[in-house]
Amino acid sequence: MNRLPDPVDHRRPDYLIDPIFWRRWSPRAMSGESITNEELMRLFEAARWAPSTYNEQEWRFLYATRGGPHWTTFFDLLLPANQTWCANAAVLVVVASSTVFARNGKPNPVHTFDAGAAFQNLSLQGAVMGLVVHGMAGFDAAKARAALHVPPEYKIEAMIAIGRPGDPQLLPEDLREREIPSGRKPVSQIAAEGSFWSA
Ligand SMILES: Cc1cc2nc3c(=O)[nH]c(=O)nc-3n(C[C@H](O)[C@H](O)[C@H](O)COP(=O)(O)O)c2cc1C
Repeated sequence: MNRLPDPVDHRRPDYLIDPIFWRRWSPRAMSGESITNEELMRLFEAARWAPSTYNEQEWRFLYATRGGPHWTTFFDLLLPANQTWCANAAVLVVVASSTVFARNGKPNPVHTFDAGAAFQNLSLQGAVMGLVVHGMAGFDAAKARAALHVPPEYKIEAMIAIGRPGDPQLLPEDLREREIPSGRKPVSQIAAEGSFWSA
């Protein structure tokens, strides 16, 4: 089996950081093997320790495991372009977050920010464990709300595919060509002292 490319061959940080950050990437090639419940819980455990406003922990993760009773429901939420490669995922996750504070019912302006932090924790833990973790916006959120009975005060944020690495040669040609860890803008284009600027 051909292995996934190694980020060390494609990514060079400009400043010294822990390799955990550039080693994480979003492959699409998965083997179709399952992961254990313990492995899945370790990913959610990592998400659990993310920071959030007032420690609200307003993220929620709904999931379906390959072969489990909810798999088809979750898989059918995905756009066809994502279904192509997610057919070999082990777990599909829908991420939602509460738009209001549990403490007082008032709008929480940073619920998506907090949910993103939780996703990143999960994805970094997945990378450490040698799993594929791939975030997705390409799905039908309205369908997800109805199918999974998500209450109106929760925003459906994203989906996540999780699985064991697979053979990139088995991906369709267009995806195979893109199965390489991507680069990044330089820090100078994303951070500046003082006012907003045009990079
Ligand atoms: C919220 C979110 C939504 C995304 N949606 C999709 C998607 O629908 N399909 C897909 O193939 N990749 C999707 N991606 C993956 C991004 O394209 C990928 O993270 C980005 O190109 C950076 O590459 P890297 O994660 O490998 O570093 C998404 C990522 C995030 C964080």
